[in-house]
Amino acid sequence: MKQPALTLLFGLTLAAGGLPVNAEDAASPSGEDLFKFHGCVNCHGVDGKDPVSKMVPELAGQPASEIYSNASKILGGKGTTQESKLMHAAFYSPASCDTPPSSEHLRSIARWLSSR
Ligand code: HEC
Repeated sequence: MKQPALTLLFGLTLAAGGLPVNAEDAASPSGEDLFKFHGCVNCHGVDGKDPVSKMVPELAGQPASEIYSNASKILGGKGTTQESKLMHAAFYSPASCDTPPSSEHLRSIARWLSSR
């Protein structure tokens, strides 16, 4: 019963444009922690507001659903631009040390960024 309720809440959150809903239990890492842990902060900057280069977009305040789908596309190797290949390589090139986020982690990151 717990899982469908959470899924519904998440759906509603997206529909509402990503209001922070803290249905996650206290033990799970925050979107902010995950943004740092997965190395997103290294390019997109603190709070997704201070990108390291003009090639890197600001993420703060974008709808969570867009952040999630754009990042999934890029991480899945389906990005078409040179810039998207750069992000992809940060996770999937042999020399990379960043761990790609699970879809659950990416959802938390997207929700958090959307609220910045
Ligand atoms: C190596 C630097 C780098 C890292 C690390 C990185 N990104 Fe990116 N990201 C980029 C660049 C460059 C683009 C622009 C891609 C393009 O223009 O097609 C981008 C684009 C995006 C976009 C699309 C934004 C838009 O407005 O089109 C999202 C969402 C995103 N990144 C999320 C993330 C998340 C979440 C992480 C961590 C899991 C992450 N990125 C890690 C460099 C990076």
